[in-house]
Amino acid sequence: MKKRIFSGIQPSGNLHIGNYLGSIYNWVNLQNDFDCLFCIVNLHAITVNQDPKTLRDKTKEIAAIYLACGIDPVKSHIFIQSDVKEHAELMWLLNTQAYFGELSRMTQFKDKSDKFKNENIPLGIFNYPILMAADILLYNTELVPVGEDQKQHVELTRDLAKRFNNKFGETFKEPEPYILKDGAKIMGLDNPDKKMSKSAESAYNYISLIDSDDDIIRKIKKAATDSENGIKFDKNRKGLHNLLTIYKMFSLKSEKEIEKEFENKGYGDFKKALAEEIIENISPIREKIKEILKEKKYLDKILEDGANYARNIAEKKIIEVKKKMGII
Ligand code: AMP
Ligand code: TRP
Repeated sequence: MKKRIFSGIQPSGNLHIGNYLGSIYNWVNLQNDFDCLFCIVNLHAITVNQDPKTLRDKTKEIAAIYLACGIDPVKSHIFIQSDVKEHAELMWLLNTQAYFGELSRMTQFKDKSDKFKNENIPLGIFNYPILMAADILLYNTELVPVGEDQKQHVELTRDLAKRFNNKFGETFKEPEPYILKDGAKIMGLDNPDKKMSKSAESAYNYISLIDSDDDIIRKIKKAATDSENGIKFDKNRKGLHNLLTIYKMFSLKSEKEIEKEFENKGYGDFKKALAEEIIENISPIREKIKEILKEKKYLDKILEDGANYARNIAEKKIIEVKKKMGII
């Protein structure tokens, strides 16, 4: 039996190369060795305001992005979270076992809630990690490949699983986060102190998977660097380090090779090579996304098959959980 992997992305904003390098890129390599479930987590997306039509379109777009990036529907299962109602159901059951304190300590919640007055903090951004825990625990997931920012949520998931198992008997597997060293945290191009983010105010923060070649060239040219000399992997030169990490991941070259390639060269040459490397990797994905979105029936069939596979596992798990809790 292959170990199971579960991961998901919210259908909101524009998926960027941080999402790609931090998650989908890794998923593609995992699908040969694991039983993979890749979800489009639309119920998570509504924790902030969404325009219904845009949300509907984005949900399909993420599915097309998964496929265009190389997720193979023969090997992996792609589905929409809301197509399997057990996610919402398990979330309520787990809600009753979670603590206010532990949720208040989530860094993502602290960041997101800072933008609101106390009275108006949406409850969805507070218990969002419990829905994520439900996603993971429904499927006896062993590994959760995510970017660094989600590690704390996976740890909370482990705590909830442990707590539930102690109280009601062995029910859930405790999942491990699976975070790769490179790409786990791609920083903003305009501000290398903060992670690249789909919800960034400036489009110069990220390169989206649907940016044109010209957009990519323009954004890399503008990316923040420093006034020092030499193209070297130096963690203290944050802007450059981030750009070099992106170059390393897309080119599959080693750090030594890269430093040699740009020995005696400056930012101009490096940025030009970086933009070309990104375009070489991203432009085929962009074209594939467009093609897949045109094949509506093909896409719907993949999502339906994915949901059927997931539902079959989730239904059994929810029966077990309810029985253990005495829910008739
Ligand atoms: P989100 O954009 O929050 O829906 O994240 C989707 C996935 O991309 C999650 O696995 C995140 O951890 C990952 N991710 C988001 N932003 C970055 C980033 N700047 N660098 C690396 N991974 C990221
Ligand atoms: N919370 C994740 C994010 O914002 C998305 C997500 C929801 C997820 N459920 C998940 C990731 C389960 C991994 C496993 O990026």
